[in-house]
Amino acid sequence: MSAVRFDGVTKRFGHTIALHDVSFGVEPGEVVVLLGLSGSGKSTLLRHVDGLHTATSGTVAALGTDVGQARGARLRDLRRRIGFVFQQFHLVGSLSVLENVCTGGLGRLRGPRLGLPSYPKAVRLEALGHLERVGLAPQAFQRADTLSGGQQQRVAVARALMQRPEILLADEPVASLDPESSAQVMRLIREIAAERDLTVLCSLHQVELALAWADRIIGLRSGRVVLDQPARTLDHTAAATIYGGAALVGSA
Ligand SMILES: Nc1ncnc2c1ncn2[C@@H]1O[C@H](COP(=O)(O)OP(=O)(O)OP(=O)(O)O)[C@@H](O)[C@H]1O
Ligand SMILES: [Mg+2]
Repeated sequence: MSAVRFDGVTKRFGHTIALHDVSFGVEPGEVVVLLGLSGSGKSTLLRHVDGLHTATSGTVAALGTDVGQARGARLRDLRRRIGFVFQQFHLVGSLSVLENVCTGGLGRLRGPRLGLPSYPKAVRLEALGHLERVGLAPQAFQRADTLSGGQQQRVAVARALMQRPEILLADEPVASLDPESSAQVMRLIREIAAERDLTVLCSLHQVELALAWADRIIGLRSGRVVLDQPARTLDHTAAATIYGGAALVGSA
C-alpha cells in the first residue's frame, strides 16, 4: 500500500485550476521532491495530504485513509501521523527551543500546557533526544528567536518528530536559508527518513538539492505532472525541463 496516493486529483479555486488530474503514489520510506515554478501547485498538492484542502474531484489517500472523507477524530488521528515543516519555521520565538519541540507532542497529551515544567518528564526527555539528533541540544534552553534560520528549521524538524510521524510533508523547507544551511537541513531530513522509515514529500525550488537528496523527483507545471522519475536517472538539464525553458529558480 502506498503511504500517499493521488488519484485523478483536480483542484479548482474559482476559475483557477491549481491541480489538473494528478495521479501518483508515494511508497513507504520514499523521499519524493516536488519541483515546479511558483504557482505550479506544489503547496496545494501538499495541503491535500493532511486535509487542509479537499480535492474538487479525484481522491487523496494517506496511510490508507481517504483524506477527503475523514472528519473529526479520524482526521485528527491522521494529522497526528503526518508532520509538516514550512518555509517560515513557525516557531514561537519567545519560548525556549525545548518547549517549542515539546509542543509537537501536544496531539497525544490531554489539555493545554504552559511552560516547560507543565510537560511530563518523558515528553521533555524525548524532545531533548530529538534536539540531540538535529545537533541542537546545547541550545535547548535558549529562546527560539535567538537561533539562526538554519537552526530554527532544525528545531522545526525536531518538533515534527515529536509527533512520531509516519509521513513528513515539507513545503520549501530551505527556501529562506543560505546554501550551506539548506544542504544541512536536507541532509538531516534525508537521514532521519532513512532511520525511521519515514515517507517524505517535500517541495523545493532548487534542482541541485532535489537531485542530491530525493529518491524520486516529480515535476509540476501549471498543476500537471510533467515529470516523474528516480533522481538518479536525471541530470540537471533533464530535471530543468520541468520549467519548460523558463528561467530557473535558485538553481546553480
Ligand atoms: N487558497 C487559494 N485560493 C485561491 N487560489 C489559490 C489558493 N491557493 C493556491 N491558489 C492558486 O493555485 C495555484 C497553485 O498555487 P500553489 O501555492 O500551490 O503553487 P506553488 O507551486 O506552491 O507556488 P510557490 O512556489 O510560489 O509556493 C496558483 O495559481 C495559486 O494562485
Ligand atoms: Mg508553495
